Amino acid sequence: MLIREGEANIEIPMYKKLCKKMPVFYNPAKEFDRTISVVFLKAFRKIKKKKLSVLDILAASGIRGIRLAIEVDGLREVILNDINPNAFKIMSKNVVKNISKLKCPVYLYNLDANAFLFSEKKFFDYIDLDPFGSPIPFLNACVRFIRRGGILAVTATDTAALCGSKKEACLRKYDANVKKWECYPEVGIRVLAKAVIKEGAKFEIALKPVFCHATQHYYRIYFQQDIGANRVDELIKKIGFYDQMGPLWLGELFDEKFVERMYEEALSINEERLVKFFSTIKEEAKIKFPFYLKTSSFGFEKEPSIKKLITKLKEYGFTASRTHFDPKGIKVNTNLAEIKKLMTRLNNKKI
Ligand SMILES: C[S@@+](CC[C@H](N)C(=O)[O-])C[C@H]1O[C@@H](n2cnc3c(N)ncnc32)[C@H](O)[C@@H]1O
Repeated sequence: MLIREGEANIEIPMYKKLCKKMPVFYNPAKEFDRTISVVFLKAFRKIKKKKLSVLDILAASGIRGIRLAIEVDGLREVILNDINPNAFKIMSKNVVKNISKLKCPVYLYNLDANAFLFSEKKFFDYIDLDPFGSPIPFLNACVRFIRRGGILAVTATDTAALCGSKKEACLRKYDANVKKWECYPEVGIRVLAKAVIKEGAKFEIALKPVFCHATQHYYRIYFQQDIGANRVDELIKKIGFYDQMGPLWLGELFDEKFVERMYEEALSINEERLVKFFSTIKEEAKIKFPFYLKTSSFGFEKEPSIKKLITKLKEYGFTASRTHFDPKGIKVNTNLAEIKKLMTRLNNKKI
């Protein structure tokens, strides 16, 4: 079955149902996620102003790494690895299929991800970790092989564990106590961020979130690496509890410098969904306070539109924005106590 995604053409065997048992895993619903990684790497390459070495450690059909090698200028190399021999054969064919379009050398490996990292002992400017379910089994190795200032991009698809639907699984895998709450995608992202930051901290590696996004099916965070105990301590200070949930990462989820660059790249790609997504992220990235509020939680008898509510909050001097986490979510630059006071005032008025 032929697939065109971004500027890549790949071929994968026909399948009836999307599952782990497919000869090679390919999820068409993750195309947007892969396009975001192209946008991220284009922006990162411009920020770094140097050639980057890229590792797609769980590459499956090779689609993500192949797209990066075609669509991003200035990469030194892209390495694709997958433990599954079928995936290895298919990704090899897919690399050959796209050979004339590749802008950098692409190297292929058929190894266990952790074995690859510990045996190669090579450092990368960008490691992409996109597992089935939880990234935990690969984190220890991945955090140690990022070059200084490089990026670790981590996906998790075990969203039920991360966001509190499966409390025991969250405690077991992520060492956090969370409850199912209306802002659950942001809870999930903050649990995942905490787990990755703590894994880096063991080795005095600081991993600061610079970009993230969440859907119902997966959470994804891009971390920028730095080294030094002080930098790690600064991150650890921002891990804590919120409304008896935690420990969670309570610091920033976006770095505005990255978001601004990514927005410019998205404009140059000019796809409606991408531009809309980055327009929202650009606004929400300005608000550093954890957690958004649902329009329903303002307690109006007749719920006002999100647009009206944001305008009103701005009139009261707050910075407020939509959030990509939820179409009915609002980010506000203040704490819950202030918002509660404001809600009481607003509820007495017609808005
Ligand atoms: C979710 S898929 C990756 C999807 C891919 N990144 C994409 O965008 O299409 C996860 C892949 O990890 C591979 N995998 C699972 N365990 C592995 C291990 N220990 N080492 C290397 N690869 C592994 C699987 O064979 C599978 O192809």
